[in-house]
Amino acid sequence: MAWLQGSALGHAMRESGVWTYGVVNLIHILGVASLFGAVLVLDLRLLGVWPKVALASVSEPTVRVAATGFTIAVLSGVCLLATKATEYVGNPFLYIKFPAIGLGLLNIAVVHRLPAWKEHTRRELSSSERRQLAVFGGISLACWLTAISAGRMIGYW
Ligand code: HEM
Repeated sequence: MAWLQGSALGHAMRESGVWTYGVVNLIHILGVASLFGAVLVLDLRLLGVWPKVALASVSEPTVRVAATGFTIAVLSGVCLLATKATEYVGNPFLYIKFPAIGLGLLNIAVVHRLPAWKEHTRRELSSSERRQLAVFGGISLACWLTAISAGRMIGYW
């Protein structure tokens, strides 16, 4: 944390004007909103909401929006962290947020290896495959809801 705070990025964040932190925070929230908005729609569909809408029609746009939002959140998040990284040491919400993000990413990696996910754009899934994807959709929602809630609470510690 001390290294990050003392880095060129940390200096740039602190010394490039009073609006810098606020604007980067806004970018972070736009990234988070895009990520979570897309994840929410996809995970609800995996959990069985809107059964008449083809999963492939939902997954294609939501995965792209979520990936873009995540990239924006990570880039802007590192800038926010670099501003006053040492102040976050001991903040329990940081230690909840990052493992939750890690688990959310692990969940994505596992889902992408499932035959049900690989096949969902090519054919109708069986009911057991749909149930399997629903479980991972539920885990995903729990991970990202935890990350977003802990992220929001960091500043209140
Ligand atoms: C490597 C990635 C990330 C880093 C380093 C990071 C870091 C940070 C930092 C330092 C803050 C400011 C805390 C404060 O002092 O108030 C913050 C705020 C926040 N982060 Fe992240 N973040 C990352 C990714 C994410 C992701 C993926 C999410 C959502 C799932 C997220 C959700 C939030 C939320 C909701 C806030 C509160 C913003 C506000 O209330 O103004 N962050 N993040």
